[in-house]
Amino acid sequence: MTGEPTAHEGRSYLVTGGASGIGRATAEVLAARGARVAIADLDAGGARRTAAELGGHTLPVTLDVADRDSWQAAVAAVETAFGGLDGLVNNAGITRDRTLARMSDQEWRQVVDVHLRGTWLGCQAARRLLSASDAGSIVNISSSGRHGSFGQTNYAAAKAGVVGLTKTVALELARAGVRCNAVAPGAVDTPMIRDVPEPVRENWLATITLGRLARPREIAEVVAFLLSPAASYITAQVIDVNGGELHL
Ligand SMILES: NC(=O)c1ccc[n+]([C@@H]2O[C@H](COP(=O)([O-])OP(=O)(O)OC[C@H]3O[C@@H](n4cnc5c(N)ncnc54)[C@H](O)[C@@H]3O)[C@@H](O)[C@H]2O)c1
Repeated sequence: MTGEPTAHEGRSYLVTGGASGIGRATAEVLAARGARVAIADLDAGGARRTAAELGGHTLPVTLDVADRDSWQAAVAAVETAFGGLDGLVNNAGITRDRTLARMSDQEWRQVVDVHLRGTWLGCQAARRLLSASDAGSIVNISSSGRHGSFGQTNYAAAKAGVVGLTKTVALELARAGVRCNAVAPGAVDTPMIRDVPEPVRENWLATITLGRLARPREIAEVVAFLLSPAASYITAQVIDVNGGELHL
């Protein structure tokens, strides 16, 4: 049977934080649709395992998004393996939660470095290859936490920063034919929120119209759409995928 090729077939993508949670789900969706996917993660073993489990045209890459040299090496590895790049997903993330009164310099710096500087470095490192594509696209992962989140001054500031960065990259790269958007998930059932105490989770659920957390796949589908030609007139946008959070 010869079906119509999917929008992602034969395209090349790099997903940071691809060994877990939302990044893994995104890599899975893209790989299942015939794309080549670089699964880039600080957790080298996790990236290798994920690539082996997903199969298809997946490439494990060791990457620290907060390190410029690491980005250069990762993009070079992707260029060698895939010959180019059509899409970048800046998804890798960490949390170091602490109230304003107690947060250390290190906790501030680590979170801002990974989310904000890491996304900026990724856009810089991938710019040349994405500009050479006829469908270059960047999707940055922000968060509903950008509106303010107790115990997360570092994370909220970084995720709000990702929005300004996204809109500016969209402006600067438009003439090269590269779109840049952000997806802002609400609470998603991944290892990142595994240690959140039960009362806090219950508070979350009370404010979510759909009354449940998101599954990683529900974020991945939106990311895949934004990477695809079906989204060719969407740039500089933030797409909230939060089940209808009532406090926003
Ligand atoms: N889970 C949620 O509720 C939620 C909500 C909103 C936004 N987000 C955002 O979604 C993204 C993915 O989160 P998740 O929930 O899938 O988390 P996760 O913890 O399941 O996965 C994060 C991945 O990022 C990798 N990583 C961490 N630091 C890295 C670095 N310096 N370089 C490269 N890789 C690194 C980790 O090894 C891990 O594989 C993050 O940006 C997060 O802030 C998550």
